[in-house]
Amino acid sequence: MSEHQIHLRINGLSWSGAVEARQSLADFLRERAGCTGVHLGCEHGVCGACTVVVDGRAVRSCLMLAVQAGGSEVVTAEGLAAPDGTLHPVQQALLEEHGLQCGFCTPGIVTTLAALTAPGRTPSEEELLAALSGNLCRCTGYQGIRRAVRRLARAVREVAS
Ligand code: FES
Ligand code: FES
Repeated sequence: MSEHQIHLRINGLSWSGAVEARQSLADFLRERAGCTGVHLGCEHGVCGACTVVVDGRAVRSCLMLAVQAGGSEVVTAEGLAAPDGTLHPVQQALLEEHGLQCGFCTPGIVTTLAALTAPGRTPSEEELLAALSGNLCRCTGYQGIRRAVRRLARAVREVAS
């Protein structure tokens, strides 16, 4: 089985080692890096549950190979809160608006929104909702998610003004 040596940063920490050539980034993050907040639903790019941030962009980690992430900065849902436990604004908005039920889809939603609302970016509510159009919630709790997006868009505008 062919393996490749890779170096990357995951949630601010360096990781180096050999990975199988065909291992997906999702499996690598879950099985080798301990990031079990990366959820696998469809495993073919449809549900969005496996979304992580790679070099600032939201990426479906089931569609990317681990070797392709070599040299990158990867952020998963586990890496969003501050070291003192303060929630990321996206997490706070979902919490305040009851934007999750079983939570299976939530890591993909928070990483998608976190990438779009990174410092210096001020997306509108409509842009945020459009970005989430590929994130499926099997609990169908979309109203809470929509309210959280509205709250988040407002917070982003306030920070920018
Ligand atoms: S598990 Fe990757 S998009 Fe569904
Ligand atoms: S909260 Fe259960 S899948 Fe979305």
